[in-house]
Amino acid sequence: MRSEAEVPVTVKTRIGIDDEDSYEFLKGFVDIQREAGCHKFIVHARVAILEGLSPKENRSVPPLRYERVFQLKQDLPELEIVLNGGIKTVEQVDEVLKNVDGVMIGRQAYHDPYFLAHLEQYFNPGWSLPDRHRVVLQMIPYIEGELARGERLGRITRHMLGLFTGQPGARTWRRYISENAFKDGAGPEVLIDALDKMPVAA
Ligand SMILES: Cc1cc2nc3c(=O)[nH]c(=O)nc-3n(C[C@H](O)[C@H](O)[C@H](O)COP(=O)(O)O)c2cc1C
Repeated sequence: MRSEAEVPVTVKTRIGIDDEDSYEFLKGFVDIQREAGCHKFIVHARVAILEGLSPKENRSVPPLRYERVFQLKQDLPELEIVLNGGIKTVEQVDEVLKNVDGVMIGRQAYHDPYFLAHLEQYFNPGWSLPDRHRVVLQMIPYIEGELARGERLGRITRHMLGLFTGQPGARTWRRYISENAFKDGAGPEVLIDALDKMPVAA
């Protein structure tokens, strides 16, 4: 892959699979990729249980073992090691980054995308936090460009459904967009109409 690809080849992996759950197994796996020239690993800090757990259960039932990922970075400091799994707060990101090179955030960014704005503010204090209404308005030029290319509104706004999580009107926002963004010909006016229904301070 390395010799064929023009982009870096990276590996996303868990820390083990079924009974193959030792640190030595993980390290051995990473060593093989490393020798083949891969230098960046994103590690979901859980084993995968193929027998008996659904994909969804596999994202919460096997315990998180961050220390395995930290150990990997300690043993192979020349590699870029990114930790993934269960990260929900800015403080957690800050703590984890003492031990690894990066953090990958999945569900939290999906459920509460504004979390990413808080992260940006934390790591870039000079940046001023835009309110959620502004975030929506700033999305509109991007959305217009994508719609012009044939994209459907709902495929973009599905990633914005959680934007008001924890704020007044969160359910109204989610429901209005869910009900309207996949209609034929739906455009940015759906977002404007949804914003009109929201309390001003959110
Ligand atoms: C709906 C959904 C789909 C996912 N699809 C993939 C996928 O195709 N490939 C992959 O490597 N991980 C996939 N994941 C796993 C995430 O990349 C991530 O490893 C996992 O959610 C743990 O991180 P989190 O706790 O921050 O969400 C998926 C997760 C969810 C919730």
